[in-house]
Amino acid sequence: MWASYRFLADIPFVAPIASKEAGQIDLLWWFLCAVSLVMTVLIFVGVIAFAFKYRKKPGVDPVPVHGSNVLEITWSVIPFLVMLVMFWWGADLFFDSQNPPKDAEEIFVVGKQWMWKVQHPDGTREMNALHVPLGKAVKLTMASEDVIHSFSMPAFRVRHDVVPGHYDALWFRPTKAGHYRIFCTEYCGDRHSQMIGFVDVLNQDDYNTWASGGSTGTLAEQGQQLFTQNGCSTCHLLAEQGRCPILKNVYNKPVELSDGRTVIADDAYLRESILEPNAKIVKGYDANVMPNFKGQLSEENVIQLIAYIKSLSPAAPAPTGTQPGAAPAPAVKKPKAVIKEAAVKLPQPQQ
Ligand code: CUA
Repeated sequence: MWASYRFLADIPFVAPIASKEAGQIDLLWWFLCAVSLVMTVLIFVGVIAFAFKYRKKPGVDPVPVHGSNVLEITWSVIPFLVMLVMFWWGADLFFDSQNPPKDAEEIFVVGKQWMWKVQHPDGTREMNALHVPLGKAVKLTMASEDVIHSFSMPAFRVRHDVVPGHYDALWFRPTKAGHYRIFCTEYCGDRHSQMIGFVDVLNQDDYNTWASGGSTGTLAEQGQQLFTQNGCSTCHLLAEQGRCPILKNVYNKPVELSDGRTVIADDAYLRESILEPNAKIVKGYDANVMPNFKGQLSEENVIQLIAYIKSLSPAAPAPTGTQPGAAPAPAVKKPKAVIKEAAVKLPQPQQ
């Protein structure tokens, strides 16, 4: 059914179609347009035709109409079925868009007035640019440092608000190499229109070449540094019980709280526990032991710390690219951090 969407890409004024999902979403969109068009024509023609047919004529008295069950059932059931199709089709695509595949590569995006900062699991950073490998599912975990932004990549037909205070996510699987646009699609201040960038879909070889560029260690290694620098390691002892919970093997595991609830130690929970430690107290521990790190750590730092905590849980489904395990992989030391700006040398966007 989906194989036939390719022709849609040839319609002028349509954004490039660079993922399978983009084609499917376009197909639904054209279907909605077609239904709207048919209904508009039916209604307009009906209104004009009946106005003409039943216009006032001299010497003719109007006869009251008492309805027709057949007609009423027909005009109720047919639109109902058409709407059911819209509902089923839209829900199917929506659920798909909300469920990133298990093997998706996780990349972190932080929105800030007025730029997009990207962090890859291997520690590579980019600004207003995102490089992804062709054919691989990519999950973006996004946070905002100030106001509500919205991360949009029309070529993949994905867009999601990035709201301060928690993580938002979206995923896509690029199927066409190229240079595509990134927009902020939520008004976020006077330079909102300049909060733009480019996503480059590279084939695997080109991607490997690009990724070998350089960074200061993996995200987890950067997190480990912060863990020591901020004094976390004095209370969260890894080998024995300290004043605070041991962080080994907690990622994505249930945690019992002092108020009797049990929560999963996912990214959102870890983020909250770093920034506002008293929000949820682990059973058996005291409140007010750990300082608040709200305002002390940037969203990027929090992402690095979470990557480190993740790396302490070898069984956790780690994003590809990171090396899970207690000891961060002795990776070949890369040169100094390189923040890759939206490259000037790249070809013009395909739109
Ligand atoms: Cu950020 Cu508009």
